[in-house]
Amino acid sequence: MDIDTTSVWADSMPNAYDRCLGPAVFHPFAVDLARRAARLAPVRVLELAAGSGILTRELIAEISAAAVTATDLNTAMVEFGSLRVPQASWQQADAQHLPYDSGRFDLVICQFGVMFFPDKRAAFAEMRRVLGPGGHLLFNTWDTIETHGFGRALMAGLERAFPGNPPTFLVRVPHGYTDPRTIEADLTAAGMSPSVIETITLEGRAASAADVATGFCTGTPLRAEIEQRADLGTVTELVAAEMTTRLGSGPVAAPMTAHVVLTAPQPPPHGNTSP
Ligand SMILES: C[S@@+](CC[C@H](N)C(=O)[O-])C[C@H]1O[C@@H](n2cnc3c(N)ncnc32)[C@H](O)[C@@H]1O
Repeated sequence: MDIDTTSVWADSMPNAYDRCLGPAVFHPFAVDLARRAARLAPVRVLELAAGSGILTRELIAEISAAAVTATDLNTAMVEFGSLRVPQASWQQADAQHLPYDSGRFDLVICQFGVMFFPDKRAAFAEMRRVLGPGGHLLFNTWDTIETHGFGRALMAGLERAFPGNPPTFLVRVPHGYTDPRTIEADLTAAGMSPSVIETITLEGRAASAADVATGFCTGTPLRAEIEQRADLGTVTELVAAEMTTRLGSGPVAAPMTAHVVLTAPQPPPHGNTSP
């Protein structure tokens, strides 16, 4: 029986993820999301799927008055993140079953994590439960893989390594929750409504295409899909070669598009109409 490795980051994966993909792919959006969060002036912040702490660090820098609780499903990520950003309070947590009292946070924030939650409506309902009156949910999610310059080149590399039958993790999961209408319907079903869904394009920069290939192939759940079928080192080299052909040798840059979602403030508890 196949094991579902879609959401698993273990062993050395957090390090490869953070080192190879952090600066190139995730940091630009972390800066954007933290600035948006700061405008809401939250005091009690819950970060979900915080990973290695790339957004966490920006939140601490941007909102010095906030107490940030950072969580992730995978203990390997929590251990890595808590060493990297010790100013936050770290805890292992599945976003679909949050171990917090209702109404405890002013802001729930999540960078490129929502697409990993198998039951998005259950996760949104949990986020709503832990938000207090006036609180917001703020998250981002990738647009289609065609709008991501690194992802597109990576898929071409995987096609070269597995002609006609490349691993589909990237398309199915990180780039599998791309339709703003679906996002809006899921939020509405969970009792929230988006006040804004904005689509933004930022530029990613990496030291080399090989770095980005190594990050995706060895530092994300794509790794397990490759290892089930072939030698990881050989495939990573093939993918790196194809990405270098497409993006160039030396430092590389690519546009990346994502949707940024902010929900309307949570209303006061039922029956309380005072301002
Ligand atoms: C692409 S990474 C994003 C990490 C981080 N937010 C960042 O911007 O670098 C996705 C993260 O989602 C986490 N994750 C997957 N399923 C989860 C779940 N059900 N609950 C909480 N976190 C989850 C993974 O462990 C991983 O750290």
